Formats: sequence, C-alpha cells, structure tokens
Amino acid sequence: MNRPLYTLPGAATVPEKSGTTANPRAASDAQDAPVAPDASDASNAQTVSQVLAQSQVESVMDELDRDLIGLAPVKQRVRDIAALLVVDKLRMNLGLQAQMPSLHMSFTGNPGTGKTSVAMRMAQILHRLGYVRKGHLVAVTRDDLVGQYIGHTAPKTKEVLKKAMGGVLFIDEAYYLYRPENERDYGQEAIEILLQVMENQRDDLVVILAGYKDRMDTFFQSNPGMSSRVAHHLAFPDYSQDELLHIADQMLASMSYRFGDDARAAFSDYIDRRLRQPHFANARSVRNALDRIRLRQASRLFKQRDRVFTREELTAIEPSDIRASRLFADDAPPTH
Ligand SMILES: Nc1ncnc2c1ncn2[C@@H]1O[C@H](COP(=O)(O)OP(=O)(O)OP(=O)(O)O)[C@@H](O)[C@H]1O
Ligand SMILES: [Mg+2]
Repeated sequence: MNRPLYTLPGAATVPEKSGTTANPRAASDAQDAPVAPDASDASNAQTVSQVLAQSQVESVMDELDRDLIGLAPVKQRVRDIAALLVVDKLRMNLGLQAQMPSLHMSFTGNPGTGKTSVAMRMAQILHRLGYVRKGHLVAVTRDDLVGQYIGHTAPKTKEVLKKAMGGVLFIDEAYYLYRPENERDYGQEAIEILLQVMENQRDDLVVILAGYKDRMDTFFQSNPGMSSRVAHHLAFPDYSQDELLHIADQMLASMSYRFGDDARAAFSDYIDRRLRQPHFANARSVRNALDRIRLRQASRLFKQRDRVFTREELTAIEPSDIRASRLFADDAPPTH
C-alpha cells in the first residue's frame, strides 16, 4: 500500500484515494486556506444556542446529515461529541474544569464506509469549536510515517506531525505501524513519537486511527499506550443495498447525471451482483462503478456523430450502460 500523503483544507470535498498525488503544495494551500470562524469569540457564551450560533458548528453537522447517506450511529456519535464540546465550552466560561478533553479517535469499518469523509467533517467541527487552530485533515498511511532505513523514521513522522498540527492527523490502516513479527521494525519508532505528541500536544492535534475493526482491536491490545489515548471509538457499518442505491443517486446528481427509465433497477441489480463479488468496498465501489458507467454512456453517445443531443440525453444513464458490465456477462441477452 503506497498511498501518498495529502492535506485537505477544512471545506474541501473528499478526494478519491486514487486521484491524490504526493503534493507538497497541498499542505501549504491548506495553511493559506481561509479560516472558518472558530469559537474563540464564544468565550462569553452562556447558552448552548449561543455557542452554536457563534461557532457555526451546526451548519457542519447539517451538512454531515445531508451529504452522507445512512451512517445513523456514526452521525449520532458525532453529535454526542459535539454536545460534549459545546457543554465543555460553557463550563470553561464559568471557570469550571478547563482541562483539554481527550479527542483522539478510532474510526473502524470496511473500505468505502465513509471514514475519511466523516473525519473531514470532524476536523471542521473541532475547528469551529476552537479545539484545533486550522481544521485541516492530513491523511497518511504507514509509508508516510515510517522510513526504509535507520534514522529515516523520526524525521518523516515529525514532518507529518508538523503538517498536521492545528488540525487532524488521519492514519489509515494504523495497525500497519505495528509489526510484531519484525523485532526491529521502524514502525515502533513512529508509534512512540505519536504517543508523545498525542499526550503533550493534544490541545493542537487530534489523531484519528482508521481501519478494519478486527485488526484495530488487535492493534490496541498490543499497544495499550495507544489504546489509552483514544477516547472515542466510532464504528462504521456497511451500507445496505438501499443505502448504496441512494448513494449512487446522490453521486450522479452531484455530477449532473441521473438514472434514466429502468436504469435505477438495473443498477440495483448490479449492486446485488457486486455484493457477491470479492473486494466489495461499499460507497467506493459504487463510485467506481458509476465512473465506468459514465464511460459507457459516453461511448454510446459518441457513436451518434451528427446528432444534436438534448440535455436529457446527455444526463441520462441508460440500462444498457449498466448491463454491459462484466457482472452481467452470464446473462445472455446482449445489451446493444
Ligand atoms: N454515506 C455516504 N453518502 C454518500 N457518499 C459516501 C458515503 N460514504 C462514502 N461516500 C463516498 O464514497 C467514497 C469513499 O468514502 P470514504 O473515502 O470516506 O470512505 P473510507 O471509509 O475512508 O474508505 P477507504 O477505507 O476505502 O478509504 C467517497 O467518494 C465518498 O464521498
Ligand atoms: Mg478513506
């Protein structure tokens, strides 16, 4: 797994993994990005409404609700954490225990269940409530933190931490940092640096460890130091077939496409088949399928050289665009 480091400003849309490249500019862009209002001016708030109004945190939570289909338990946990932080603000304003709450989290779930998308919203929420200065998200994997040779890991990890300061460090498949089978694995060095920073700089950096649930459980069992620093565990369920269809509708709409007559039923059939294939990756598989479907739609239209297309024709996905997938290869009737 060799996914590059990328840095996202708080308000950006979620990038596809495959489309991201190592881009040092991205980090500085994030630092230059306009800073959303934070809650520093909420220091005199006396009611929940005042904190909400001054921090504008509700608009992020509404966006989370609206833009992400399903995920009810995750959304509820995000609301609970936001409530805790809002009440903490009120308590601080009255001089009650002003200790920085521990905000490091784990996001567990299968691929494509929305972990990165929710992490970005979480970064914005933390920023608006004044818990991190900038609210950007730096997403990394083991390769971004751990070097190949002796002496390379510490500078690499520290460089990433520097980029993430003031925001959220999202470590995807965090358990790859720990390789017990190799005694001298440099991952351990990265873990130790992370542990220190998670403790000493938790007022300016929130770490989210993401990955499969079972592997994360094992990782926490073997790394009690890490486990004790992670206060919030959010479990991301797989999407139901119906949710996947809704996600497809939403993705298409955001790209100005739509299912034409009978195409939605064909896509439902597609999902049904895809679910039975290996490596199903929830919403990510839906996005990939839609990319291929758009290619087929384009090839279909491309053949009609002299036709003046209507808006409807240019936006409609037809059943044939879907049924040409190899998943339908067993069913004889050719689609066009
Ligand atoms: N609930 C949802 N509603 C709409 N779109 C979603 C939802 N969940 C995920 N997506 C979309 O699916 C794609 C993958 O989501 P995301 O990267 O957040 O998942 P992930 O759990 O981080 O996956 P991975 O483990 O593969 O990195 C993105 O394009 C995202 O916008
Ligand atoms: Mg992700």
